Amino acid sequence: MKILAIETSCDETAIAIVEATGDAQSAQFTVLGNALLSQIDIHREYGGVFPALAKREHAKNLVPILAAALEEAELLHEDTQAIPEETRRAIAQILEREPGLEEQFFEFVSECEPPEIDAIAVTSGPGLEPALWVGINFARALALLWDKPLVAVNHMEGHVLAALAQNDAEGALLHIKDIEMPVLALLISGGHTELVMMKEWLKYELVGQTLDDAVGEAFDKVARMLGLPYPGGPEISRLAELLRESEKSDFKNAFGSLTSKFTLPRPLINDATCNFSFSGLKTAVLYLLKKNPEISEVEKQHMAHEFEDAVTEVLWKKTARAIEETGAQTLVIGGGVSANTHIRRTFTTQVAGEYPNVALRIPSAALTTDNAIMIALAGFYRALRKEFVADVVANGNLPLA
Ligand code: KG4
Ligand code: ZN
Repeated sequence: MKILAIETSCDETAIAIVEATGDAQSAQFTVLGNALLSQIDIHREYGGVFPALAKREHAKNLVPILAAALEEAELLHEDTQAIPEETRRAIAQILEREPGLEEQFFEFVSECEPPEIDAIAVTSGPGLEPALWVGINFARALALLWDKPLVAVNHMEGHVLAALAQNDAEGALLHIKDIEMPVLALLISGGHTELVMMKEWLKYELVGQTLDDAVGEAFDKVARMLGLPYPGGPEISRLAELLRESEKSDFKNAFGSLTSKFTLPRPLINDATCNFSFSGLKTAVLYLLKKNPEISEVEKQHMAHEFEDAVTEVLWKKTARAIEETGAQTLVIGGGVSANTHIRRTFTTQVAGEYPNVALRIPSAALTTDNAIMIALAGFYRALRKEFVADVVANGNLPLA
């Protein structure tokens, strides 16, 4: 089955075309085309993602991204198409709220043969609703024009399945196989921090979640306090790694031990649930910065390091508790924050040391942050169950469990 997948939930416009075979227990995926445009440079100015701007950028970029993905998949064949007036009117109505998209859409599709795909998958939530709607309306228009079934995908399910997928040696082929249940997923992104258990394929139970800020949000806010650009996660990570590196050099002697400079709390680390809280940690950073207004570059590294350590310790402690509670056989981490080097390293070491029987799956770097391949994977699992939908509605808070 060839799936065309569309992702516009946040600040990445992404389309992938993936050929999928097999079943839930043993699925294989060949990525035929994968095009992605990040809006990070545009949002950086605002220190975060600005929904109206994200919507406008998605509308501007979807057609070129589709053309690039089809071209890479060798599915782009030029041919003049006659579009019946009735279809044209229905599509114009679907796209009426996406200024500029309609014109580009008709210009493109009236010059290209309907591609040989079997289904169209699109993210329906969670995310920024104005951004989600652009992708959904684009998918609805294509499905109508090309007469293809539509699949609505939960973005977080995409992160889970991408984390379960492994690359073969050549890298073009992904497979999901030999997965032992229950699977425990730690999902950490800009909008989510949750521990979810899957005992049966695609059935999720919430084990724990943040009571306030998401972990990515905390990274971004602390970075902003330190005067670092958006998105803050990679910046904090860079500073913290610099300090860890310098620990190995003479640099260390001048500044003493690594953790002595600042001390931050580990919120909820010893409480009896698998829940998280990050807003107090952020406030603690703010308080320390008020006490030390003239923070030096090296002190910034210390702050970033202590913050990253605090977050990682809490994430690991809660995940370990959840492994015990659920009897998980497989652990996956997914979402943008799982790109973090220190978190990946810590989880790899801790699982090997404390839970050698648990299989840890960490997605490859390219599959960690938002992309459309993960939406194609989830789309395939849903299509296997014939969960095709007549229409799709955006839901910014769509839950997984
Ligand atoms: O999953 P994602 O790409 O988008 C959402 O669905 O939210 O996650 C984005 C989040 C941002 O908060 C970003 O700062 C964080 O992931 N992030 C990181 C790293 N790379 C991205 N956080 C910590 N360390 C990183 N290396
Ligand atoms: Zn995401």
